[in-house]
Amino acid sequence: MPDPAAIPDPFGLAGRHVLITGAGGGIGRAMIAAFSGAGAIVSGADRDAALLDGLALRHRLVFDLTDAKAAADAIAKLVADGAAPDILVNNAGFTRAETLKDVDDKVWDSELAINLTGAFHVTSPVMAAMAARGGGSIVFVASVNGLGHYGNPAYSAAKAGLIAYAKSVAVEAGRDGIRANVVCPGSVRTPAWDHRLAKDPTILEDVVSHYPLGRMVRPEDVANAALFLASPLAGGVTGAVLPVDGGLTAGNLRFVRDIIERKS
Ligand SMILES: NC(=O)c1ccc[n+]([C@@H]2O[C@H](COP(=O)([O-])OP(=O)(O)OC[C@H]3O[C@@H](n4cnc5c(N)ncnc54)[C@H](O)[C@@H]3O)[C@@H](O)[C@H]2O)c1
Repeated sequence: MPDPAAIPDPFGLAGRHVLITGAGGGIGRAMIAAFSGAGAIVSGADRDAALLDGLALRHRLVFDLTDAKAAADAIAKLVADGAAPDILVNNAGFTRAETLKDVDDKVWDSELAINLTGAFHVTSPVMAAMAARGGGSIVFVASVNGLGHYGNPAYSAAKAGLIAYAKSVAVEAGRDGIRANVVCPGSVRTPAWDHRLAKDPTILEDVVSHYPLGRMVRPEDVANAALFLASPLAGGVTGAVLPVDGGLTAGNLRFVRDIIERKS
């Protein structure tokens, strides 16, 4: 069998331009490493320039994705600079409201705006640029929260909406040569967990017991799945929703362990 490292451009991504939102976050940084390692030209977007400091990016786009005009202006400039994306990874996301008691009108609007409407603000102009160039590939980073309830109700509603939106892109923009797919990560230790760890430094030990693989998902697990879906290797795949969740949504490990295997 040939050594994969000896195959030039094994993913067909050499020279392809990738735009990653939330590039300064934990999964965003793993995405940059994965796509750069596959030979792609990587640009990143985030809401604060400092979050992108020191990252190996061709173009840095700084805007809050809840601001439709700021997003459209940043994408228009990227396209005008000759760097229209071949691939878009909608990775930015945020939640703080853990359960329904934390959700009021303001929180609901804010978490929907960041996690759902924000992705729409970025995707619309990028899709137009992709269609004009004959195609492209879009990966949405949703969550297991978009598939079932694991807390964070407003965020979950937004992520479920993101899956529906991705499917609309897959169905309607396929004729423009655009593919759209979704990855649904389980729990990943990134800065998104800092606020929970600040409250309870031992929380991750309990997280692991819910996962059939016996570990949390790693940022690079999510990045590698996105890389595959974005690449020509997945050329026949569109509208797919891929859990990258260590088996969390495959069933209920605790039920099997505590009830079915119960020792009397
Ligand atoms: N970490 C997890 O356990 C986990 C699980 C499932 C899904 N996800 C999803 O993975 C993606 C990446 O999350 P992460 O764990 O790397 O979190 P992170 O907090 O490390 O990174 C998120 C990034 O999104 C950016 N962002 C947030 N709001 C923004 C806004 N209004 N405008 C522009 N940028 C904004 C942040 O600045 C940050 O750089 C998110 O969509 C998240 O919902 C994470």
